[in-house]
Amino acid sequence: MMNTPLLYPYSLLCELTYSCPLQCPYCSNPVNFEHYTNELDTQEWQRILDEAAALGVVQVHFSGGEPLLRKDIVQIIKKARDLNLYSNLSTGGTLLTEKLVRELRSAGLDSLQISIQDADSLNSDYISGGLGSFDKKKKAALLVKNAGFPLTINVVLHKQNLDNIEAIIGLAEDIGAERLELANTQFNGWALKNRNLLLPTRTQVEHAVSVVESARLRLKGKMEILYVVPDYFEQYPKPCLYGWGRVFMTITSDGIVLPCQAAREISELQFENIRNKSLEKIWFESESFCIFRGTDWMPEPCRSCPQKVIDFGGCRCQAFLLTGNAAVTDPVCSLSPHHTLIEQALKETKKRSQEMWIYRNEEESKRWTIKSLFDNNK
Ligand code: SF4
Ligand code: FES
Repeated sequence: MMNTPLLYPYSLLCELTYSCPLQCPYCSNPVNFEHYTNELDTQEWQRILDEAAALGVVQVHFSGGEPLLRKDIVQIIKKARDLNLYSNLSTGGTLLTEKLVRELRSAGLDSLQISIQDADSLNSDYISGGLGSFDKKKKAALLVKNAGFPLTINVVLHKQNLDNIEAIIGLAEDIGAERLELANTQFNGWALKNRNLLLPTRTQVEHAVSVVESARLRLKGKMEILYVVPDYFEQYPKPCLYGWGRVFMTITSDGIVLPCQAAREISELQFENIRNKSLEKIWFESESFCIFRGTDWMPEPCRSCPQKVIDFGGCRCQAFLLTGNAAVTDPVCSLSPHHTLIEQALKETKKRSQEMWIYRNEEESKRWTIKSLFDNNK
């Protein structure tokens, strides 16, 4: 049962497709993404935007995979504009052309984010698994600037690029980005499979903090820098999504409505499909949204902890992926009975490893699907 006053969603993430020309090893799409091919069509997305606006959503983020692979991207964005929704598009940038940027602008898109993997072109291509992608991304960023869009550069940070943080900030500055989002890798899905190669050391994290602090002072008024210390290095978890089912919702390319982008990984929960129910019913009444809403569901130590109204017990996806139970305290919390799992991972990452990471691609995806089927049948 719902245990908080009625809360309306504020922000909607539309994962328009799981297809992507790149293969980042920390992708937030499900590890078995190739199973979900029944993509919503243009009319279905338009209906979703109608319903979202009626529910009170004010901002819509379009992402993927690569949202520019959708032939109807301009139409979908135009619909968001017609409904007065603030729209943001998050792209890898490699498919942007001058014509498309112009079309997106006249359709009413409000802002654009381009992801870059590193300031070093070779390492950037290596991380994205896309040869030549770095140059395409830089060109795309200039197209976006020239079209008059506010530009955000996104960089997912991890062990393989954190030492270049100064150069990454310099690159975003040279491009003329208004905002730089330095997002530390969240260890769900693909990133969890690659954790040993992505989890930074404490020294790397501390160095990055001091570089970011001085860059913020130097670039004040010119470029905003967002940076949050990775939760594995914090005493308490982050308030993931400001609490489950409080502000955010995600709709996947095949219509599943999730309280959070990574929630599909929680195999013990059943999620509704927008093809069968209204967004309003799903938000207010579905078990998947109500189950972790508020604080009544919390076990100890969260139940009697004053932090619970600040961090909401941390991340449900992380709790599930690390312990097999989404209803326990996030192991990142130093008070969690499972916190040794984090300490152990941090010890492991100090060891040098020769292994190669697993790219997000169909072949690997199939391998993981087969493995999980096997695990579930044990
Ligand atoms: Fe947050 Fe729960 Fe840890 Fe308290 S015990 S800090 S509420 S995760
Ligand atoms: Fe899903 Fe945190 S990533 S709740």
